Amino acid sequence: MFTREIVTINEFIQEKERDFPYAKGDLTSLLTDIVIASKIVHRDVNRAGLTNILGDFGATNVQGESQKKLDVFANEQFISALKTGEKCCGIASEENDNFIAFGKKGESHGHYVVAFDPLDGSSNIDVNVSIGTIFSIYRTVHPGDPACLEDFLQPGSELVAAGYVIYGSSTMLVYTTGRGVNGFTLDPSIGEFCLSHPNIMTPMKGSIYSINEGNYINLPKGVQQYIDYCKSEGEGKKPYTARYIGSLVADFHRNLLKGGIYIYPGTFKDPKGKLRLLYECNPLAFICEQAGGKAIDGFNRILDITPESLHQRVPYFVGSADMVDKAAEFMKNA
Ligand code: AHG
Ligand code: MN
Ligand code: MN
Repeated sequence: MFTREIVTINEFIQEKERDFPYAKGDLTSLLTDIVIASKIVHRDVNRAGLTNILGDFGATNVQGESQKKLDVFANEQFISALKTGEKCCGIASEENDNFIAFGKKGESHGHYVVAFDPLDGSSNIDVNVSIGTIFSIYRTVHPGDPACLEDFLQPGSELVAAGYVIYGSSTMLVYTTGRGVNGFTLDPSIGEFCLSHPNIMTPMKGSIYSINEGNYINLPKGVQQYIDYCKSEGEGKKPYTARYIGSLVADFHRNLLKGGIYIYPGTFKDPKGKLRLLYECNPLAFICEQAGGKAIDGFNRILDITPESLHQRVPYFVGSADMVDKAAEFMKNA
């Protein structure tokens, strides 16, 4: 008899819809749209060097960003998949100054909005280092209308779903709908994301710390002291291991699986740090908490912050619960 052991992401998403008895299938369709866009971006990320050599990359454009730069390309793919899928009424992207509302008043499609970072770690594209996509899904505040600013300024605690795609040595999609975290690896031979990491839980403590230590002299005292602690003490007097790729998704993914802490703190020059609350910090905080970890701004829970603007930045400490607690202790006592 024919038996099949793989579970594709589409099968998995549909199966999970049954957890929500009143679900109309919109979230399922929305996630499916995101899966499709991810596959298209995966395809182009994998051919980035080749297309560059062949001159497709910006060949006809002398006006800067526009033609086929991968971050712009990824942005367009996600916007078009979400718009044509008609299951969300608007998007906000790290690459756009303002949010984009879909449909007209009274005839808008979808009860959800999506905020995303289409290509994270884009400075790493040219040197063949892992990059990613981060997405987050909220319920719209005014169902039936096109998206408005209020939709995107909800605290992360209102998230319905969030996930990321890592374009690494293999391409993986990891997501949560608030009932645990599951990871899927793309099998290029069949073009499907297959369940490879069911029910991901992050270790309570790990031995990896990830921070751009080049900023050391400009960091708040509490962070400096925590770094010193990682180097000299660590857990049980054994120094921690430093790992920093410079792609948040890749750094986060490694620490999620192995246990560790990622820090992008405020500096004296940029007190809010670099990472964006909506597109980067909230979705990964939701995933991390669902996997048993924590995410704070140094003092308070990330998911409790009510955003004031679309591109708001926030200091970020995310990872294994015990390690985040320890870093918070240093911040508080500094
Ligand atoms: P993006 O490519 O979406 O702008 O994000 C870049 C971010 C993040 O991926 C990474 O962790 C961080 O920038 C690295 O910043 P530094 O180079 O300052 O360490
Ligand atoms: Mn980013
Ligand atoms: Mn980006």
